[in-house]
Amino acid sequence: MALIPADIIEDVRIQTDIVNLVGEYVKLEKKGRNYTGACPFHQERDPSFTVNPEKQMFYCFGCQAGGSAIKFLMLIESLTFVESVRRLANRAGINLPDLEKSGDDKKAAREERAWRANAEAGDFYHHYLLNSPEAKPAREYLAGRGLSQETINTFKIGYAPAAWDSLTVHMRKAGYRTEEIVETGLAVGDRNKVFDRFRNRIIFPVANAQGRVVAFGGRILGAADNQPKYLNTPETPFFNKGKILYGLHLARQAIRQAGYAVIMEGYMDVVTAHQSGIRNVMASMGTSLTADQGKLLLRYTRDIYIAYDADSAGMKAAARGLDILQQIGCRLKVISMPRDTDPDDFIRQKGAQGWNALLEGADSLLEYKMSLARTSGRDARGILDEILPNLSEIKSDIELEDGIKTVASRLNISWEAVKGEIRRYRASQRKIWVKPDKIAKNTHNILKSDKTRDALSGAEMGILKILVEKPEKLNLFRSVLGNDFIQDPLVKELYLAVVPWIDSGRFEPARLLDELGEQQAALLSRLIMEKSFGPGGTEDSAGYDPQDIDRIAEDYINVIKRNDQARKRIVFMQELAKAEKNNDIDLVNDILKKLQEIGNPE
Ligand code: CTP
Ligand code: MN
Repeated sequence: MALIPADIIEDVRIQTDIVNLVGEYVKLEKKGRNYTGACPFHQERDPSFTVNPEKQMFYCFGCQAGGSAIKFLMLIESLTFVESVRRLANRAGINLPDLEKSGDDKKAAREERAWRANAEAGDFYHHYLLNSPEAKPAREYLAGRGLSQETINTFKIGYAPAAWDSLTVHMRKAGYRTEEIVETGLAVGDRNKVFDRFRNRIIFPVANAQGRVVAFGGRILGAADNQPKYLNTPETPFFNKGKILYGLHLARQAIRQAGYAVIMEGYMDVVTAHQSGIRNVMASMGTSLTADQGKLLLRYTRDIYIAYDADSAGMKAAARGLDILQQIGCRLKVISMPRDTDPDDFIRQKGAQGWNALLEGADSLLEYKMSLARTSGRDARGILDEILPNLSEIKSDIELEDGIKTVASRLNISWEAVKGEIRRYRASQRKIWVKPDKIAKNTHNILKSDKTRDALSGAEMGILKILVEKPEKLNLFRSVLGNDFIQDPLVKELYLAVVPWIDSGRFEPARLLDELGEQQAALLSRLIMEKSFGPGGTEDSAGYDPQDIDRIAEDYINVIKRNDQARKRIVFMQELAKAEKNNDIDLVNDILKKLQEIGNPE
């Protein structure tokens, strides 16, 4: 990553006001010390999106997105950290020095040049379509497919001349070297003979989430006889098909408004949908859906509809992708398109109204998979086996209950039976408990009982919360509990990240947030923005009774100590059982003594 000097990042932080920045995207209202509004990152009825000017950070109590101004711009504009800092610097009028080119910088510079080359080529194709007499058949073709001039402009649709090297000649004139033109996939060949990749084809520029053109798709005019219907930019160092969704940059706003997104198969599906006012749509360009594409969408919504031609090869390829999307947290519905009809055909015939009705009837992923299994002749048992992986992936209790009801009623079995199957399936997926004796079972019960675990992780998080508000309490916890007392891996990681900041004497959460991973940042934001403890601990109160905090800290410490004791006891009891089995009297006595030392749980 290009390195921006730390002091410049610091300047950017100081000169950016997060309330102003967020205010450009979200209507904010002042509430006490904070500003609140409707979260731009997920669909919600009651505003749970909060900006805190003092700490210069934002947090959404609904979707847990949170962080600094830099993070906000990254999320809302789909930027990298460096891009976000650059934009904020521009905005604040801070000059970025010409950065020394590190290896990564060179790559970024090459990528930038490749994207500029694509933009240049895209303009060339677009102008050629609009202005050239030779492009008349192309204009007629598009008109014949019902596209308006406005739509053609919005998508910057173009036409590639029939000649061998029109684009290459143009690009050379614009200052690009032949190798660059080939490397970006615009031309094919070598130093001696180069010709344009796209010739006599309608051109669909493919943009990334920020609207930069990264590739092209070229459609043959009319029926495809002995040529492929579409030609696409091949995978290049600057273009990876599995990370791009066609049309996403034009759909972002509409996805937020609608609260869901639709993935279609092809270029024309998306273009026609847009022209009919359906704008929350994008296309996977005929490939199997990937986790990367899912993650792109999760920035805007987790509700995703799949609209593929039912019997198409694309649907079969996509079906594999659906499980992947579910695993990363998408909530999927599958639209059943009439046979041999794609969204382009459908929307042209039935309009937006027909489309909305079609969406109403969409199947959940479970329903869809059950139908699929039934069509292939499976019985209830077989169908259940098919969907158990999907059922047990559902993390929310409410959604799971919904799923159980759906499955039970479809397969005509009881809810209890379905629940039992899920339990069994989940258990079979989990690591098998290796020690089948009684002690092991006890261990399991003690450590895994929800109550213990909840109390423990509650205490661990509580301690972090105290540290975030009162960093000076670190010494107290460290002196009593040491430095390695946290069991929950996520909390532990965050604790280990926070401690050096506190030790250095300047704990600035907004800065730390930019260094943390997604989950840690979400947790830290939550801890900072949540209400304070104790009576009167509202968002508005400046603080709380110091005595309260000490009492709460003590409670947490006790929970952690008790848990630690319990864990030690279990280890000793396991050793004890082994020693008894081996008739090792000395060892038995030894362990009994140790057990006495750590005391009994009350
Ligand atoms: N596709 C491709 N290469 C092909 C065929 C298809 O890359 N040889 C991709 C394109 O992105 C295309 C999508 O898969 O848009 C869906 O293919 P298809 O349904 O065959 O095309 P349509 O989008 O329906 O195009 P049209 O309506 O113009 O026939
Ligand atoms: Mn089509």
